[in-house]
Amino acid sequence: MNDDLIYKIKEKKEILKDKITILAHHYQNIEIVKLSDVIGDSYKLAVEGSRSKSEFIVFCGVKFMAEGAAILAKDTQKIVIPDMKAGCPMAEMIDAIRAKEVYERIREGCNKEVAPVVYVNSYGDMKNFCGERGGATCTSSNAKKILEYYFNQGKRVFFSPDYNLGINTAKSLNLKKEEIVKVKRNLSFEGNIKNARLFIWDGFCIVHKLFTTSDIIKLREAYKDIKIIVHPECDEEVVSMSDLSGSTEKIWNSVKDGKPGSIWGVGTEFNFVKRLAGECQDKKIIPLRASSCSNMEEISLSDLAMSLNSISDYLEGKGELKFEIKASETFKEHARKSLEKMIEISEGK
Ligand code: 13P
Ligand code: SF4
Repeated sequence: MNDDLIYKIKEKKEILKDKITILAHHYQNIEIVKLSDVIGDSYKLAVEGSRSKSEFIVFCGVKFMAEGAAILAKDTQKIVIPDMKAGCPMAEMIDAIRAKEVYERIREGCNKEVAPVVYVNSYGDMKNFCGERGGATCTSSNAKKILEYYFNQGKRVFFSPDYNLGINTAKSLNLKKEEIVKVKRNLSFEGNIKNARLFIWDGFCIVHKLFTTSDIIKLREAYKDIKIIVHPECDEEVVSMSDLSGSTEKIWNSVKDGKPGSIWGVGTEFNFVKRLAGECQDKKIIPLRASSCSNMEEISLSDLAMSLNSISDYLEGKGELKFEIKASETFKEHARKSLEKMIEISEGK
């Protein structure tokens, strides 16, 4: 069954050639990854998507990623996501209405300029909210750089939606406890608004929340020389107990470049860790625990095959384009600004 689908997808790819680019996030299952043109973390995919000249970008990832590509797309390009059910619960944990209220309360409370920074794991309304106010998006690969950029301008930062990425980045910037305020989802503030520099929304990732310090302790007891690497969406205590942390691309590269024979405990999505282990036969790779992203798993080979069929039918005038994801015209202009600002700061331009 899979072999048949893989054959059909390859055949379609051959026909559509450079009319399409298939992007796959690192958490996609291995068959999808093998059929993709670009594989990467959310930052790499946003940049590569924006540089692609193809008429169609097929985004194998979750909805906020495909929507981000649609925000950055040229007017002549169309973005397709093979399964609209691939959402991200974290991205649902904040919206522009609540963000605006919090932002105004922070401004009043500290009487300073506030830059809103939103993790790309968010929807267009939030990216628009940040772009309209001179803020930016960030990913786990550049959060430190983006926060530093605004702190260097003497601004306060309102960061959302992932509390863990916020607090782990704050620690890497040596912010003191009293400079950080947690903003609860019922809009209450934990900490002193007046003296704080960073305000962090308390959203979270259901996949990364599952990793615990005891997962690390157990592995360290079993393997004396093990190196632990985790994603910064993990809890603060888990990140502090690890040797390294970073985006999926950083995890991929660090482990691949590790010494032959080295042993790694990896705290991120399970399908990714399995693929990494398969790629690094000269090392021992152990997941901290089997925590997989069911949203990423929504994208199947048959979904991919159907979306490619729909593109070719559309090009032949045989039907409407299915699975297209569009950016809302209301949000597009400022949402785009916030994504471009991230790329500008990250690339140091
Ligand atoms: P990356 O930016 O590391 O790809 O992470 C995206 C994500 O959704 C992790 O859960
Ligand atoms: Fe969202 Fe977590 Fe899945 Fe990433 S791993 S897409 S943050 S649910």
